[in-house]
Amino acid sequence: MSFLELQSLRKTWPDGTQAVKSLDLAIEAGQFVVLLGPSGCGKTTTLRMVAGLEQPSSGSVRLNSQDVTHAPPSARDIGFVFQFHALYPHMSVEQNLLFPLENVGVPKAERRATVARVAAALGLDGMLRRRPRELSGGDQQRVALGRALVRKPALWLMDEPLGMLDAGERAHMCEFLRAKQLEHRAATMYVTHDQEEAMRLADRVVVMDRGEVLQDGPPGMVYSEPQSLFVARFVGSPGMNLIEGDARAGVFQARGTNIQWALPHPVPDGPVIVGARPENVRVDAEGAFTGRVVLDAFVGPCRYVHLDSPAGRIVVRVSADQSAPSGGQWRVEFDPRALCLFDPRTGRRLNESRS
Ligand SMILES: Nc1ncnc2c1ncn2[C@@H]1O[C@H](COP(=O)(O)OP(=O)(O)OP(=O)(O)O)[C@@H](O)[C@H]1O
Ligand SMILES: [Mg+2]
Repeated sequence: MSFLELQSLRKTWPDGTQAVKSLDLAIEAGQFVVLLGPSGCGKTTTLRMVAGLEQPSSGSVRLNSQDVTHAPPSARDIGFVFQFHALYPHMSVEQNLLFPLENVGVPKAERRATVARVAAALGLDGMLRRRPRELSGGDQQRVALGRALVRKPALWLMDEPLGMLDAGERAHMCEFLRAKQLEHRAATMYVTHDQEEAMRLADRVVVMDRGEVLQDGPPGMVYSEPQSLFVARFVGSPGMNLIEGDARAGVFQARGTNIQWALPHPVPDGPVIVGARPENVRVDAEGAFTGRVVLDAFVGPCRYVHLDSPAGRIVVRVSADQSAPSGGQWRVEFDPRALCLFDPRTGRRLNESRS
C-alpha cells in the first residue's frame, strides 16, 4: 500500500462545475510529486481534499494506511503552504512561524531555535518583528513556506509556493525546498502551473487538465514521451513542434504543402500530427523542408531559432555559437528516432514510446 492513496476522488461544486473527475493517484513515502496543469484544472481542489479542507463529492483519501476521507485537517499529519499565503495578519513574522509548533509539545527553547534556523535559511531573519502587511509579496510567500518547514509532517502539501518570487529567487528556493524535502523524506504534493519548476523539483510529474490526470511519470518521460497533444504543448518551453498532415502508405505529407517524408513507425492512413522537440529538429542540407529564420532567441547555453516554413512555425535548438542571421534559409528535418505521432481527432499518441 502506498503512503498516500487517492481513489476515484471527485469534487463537483454546487453549481455543477466538475473540478476533479475521478482522480486516482498514489504517492510513496518520501516521494516528491508535482501536480502540473493550467489554471482551473483542479490542482488546488485536489490538495484541499487531501488536507481535509474540502469534502470530496465521492472517492477516498488514505494516508499512512488509514482512511482519512472524512477526518478533520487536525487529524492528518500534514503541512500546507497555501496558494494565497494565509498568514495571520495580527501576528509578527516570528509569531507566524512559531504558531505551528505551539500546542504540539515542542519545548519553548527548541521552538525558538527551529524558527531562527528556518528564518535564517529563508532570509527572513531581518524581519521577524514585522507584520505581514509590512512585507512584500515575495517575503510573505517565504513566511508561508517557513510556516510549513518549521514542522516535519509526514506529508507536505504546497500550492504554488513560489509564485510571487522573481526568477532568481525561485530557482534558489527550488533547490532549498528539494534539499529540505530530501533531508526530511516527507512525501510532498506540490502544485504549479510552471512546467520548468515541475521538471526541476519532481520525482514524478502528474499533468492535469480539466479535473483529470493526462499523464503521470518521471519528468524526463513526460517531456520526451508525451502521450497526448495537450502534454506535448503544455510541457517544454518552447513547446513541441507540431505539423498537421496526412499519412498515406507510410508517408507523411504536411497539409497544403509538398513537404513529405517516410514515417519510421507504421500508422493507419488518415490525418496525423507529427511532433518533435526543438532539440530533435536537425539542420541538414538533405532535410525534408526549408524554413526562413525569423527570430533568434539566445538563452545562454543554446539558442532557439524560429523558422517560418510552409508547414508553419518551427523552432530549432542549436548551439549558442551558431549564427542565425534573420532571413537565412535553413533546411531541416525532424529526427525520426524522436518523432511523436498524434491522432488529431482524439489528441492521443499513435506511436509507442521509445522506452
Ligand atoms: N469554492 C468553489 N466554488 C465553486 N467553484 C470553485 C470553487 N473553487 C474552485 N472552483 C472551480 O473549480 C475548478 C478548479 O479550481 P482550482 O482552484 O482547483 O483550480 P487550480 O488548478 O488550482 O487553478 P489555479 O492554477 O488558477 O490556481 C475551477 O473551475 C474553479 O473555478
Ligand atoms: Mg490553484
